[in-house]
Amino acid sequence: MILCRTIPELQKLTTEAHATGQSIGLVPTMGALHEGHASLIKACHQENTISIVSIFVNPTQFGPNEDYDKYPRSFAKDCQTAEKAGADIIFTPAADELYPSKDMTWVEVTGDITKVLCGRTRPIHFRGVTTIITKLFNLIQPDKAYFGQKDAQQVEVLRKMVSDLFIPVELRIMPIIRESDGLAKSSRNAYLTPAEKTATLILYKSLQKAKAIFTAGERNPDNILKTVQQIIESEPLSSIDYIEIHGLPALTPLTDIIDKTALLAVAVKFGNTRLIDNIILEV
Ligand code: PAJ
Repeated sequence: MILCRTIPELQKLTTEAHATGQSIGLVPTMGALHEGHASLIKACHQENTISIVSIFVNPTQFGPNEDYDKYPRSFAKDCQTAEKAGADIIFTPAADELYPSKDMTWVEVTGDITKVLCGRTRPIHFRGVTTIITKLFNLIQPDKAYFGQKDAQQVEVLRKMVSDLFIPVELRIMPIIRESDGLAKSSRNAYLTPAEKTATLILYKSLQKAKAIFTAGERNPDNILKTVQQIIESEPLSSIDYIEIHGLPALTPLTDIIDKTALLAVAVKFGNTRLIDNIILEV
């Protein structure tokens, strides 16, 4: 596995790969790699000649009061995880190389798609994501890029960006990897105290209940939202940020009945740690 810390080092390799007709897959990450990330890297390794994993804690997607400074960083361990999963190249640039000037160009998807769900409390988050991903796509020009369904809104926003800007890349979306007890793997799980970790089990439990009543025929979104809310509120350590249902693709509004495939997504705080999870309700 090759470690690239600068853009010229990376582009020497990607230019050669493109010139010799090798396919390139990209897995963008912010590090603190876990089995969720590893599943993306494994798929990338299987489907491409060269697998590139970027590790970059992207400052522009964190709000002023968010956890940029304390975001978990574990570079040595990440290299082992990435290599074991099949990465050929790790790209870990410095922030000032990706953002060379204070006056900068943003890539921003506008509309409800970036205003609902996490967009309500994180107004600049998706602008940071779409800007950094555009930079990585332009630098690497991957054939395929891998993202997790765990960040369902991120997936929909990136799909729209790729479509609107005619970016020649195939997005590959991978299922949510969970702990055996149901908690979705997340770098932020490292912040949880043991008591909070136990409390988080309520998230998956609530989503499973929603899926069960949906499968049994419930199509009223308010009834489903109320059920999920009651279950989560039964856990004293939880504090709900949002519970929402939107149409897929593109997080379009639903009417008073779920008559097309929909996304049920939740964001809940346990202590200072805000976790997100979701489930697809397929009609
Ligand atoms: P990060 O949170 O490091 O996640 C990198 C990728 O791993 C994302 O596509 C995310 O959806 C996926 N992922 C995380 N947990 C997962 C799980 N439990 N199961 C499956 N996939 C999972 O998302 C970001 O970084 C950043 O916003 C980024 C896209 C890198 C832009 O900076």
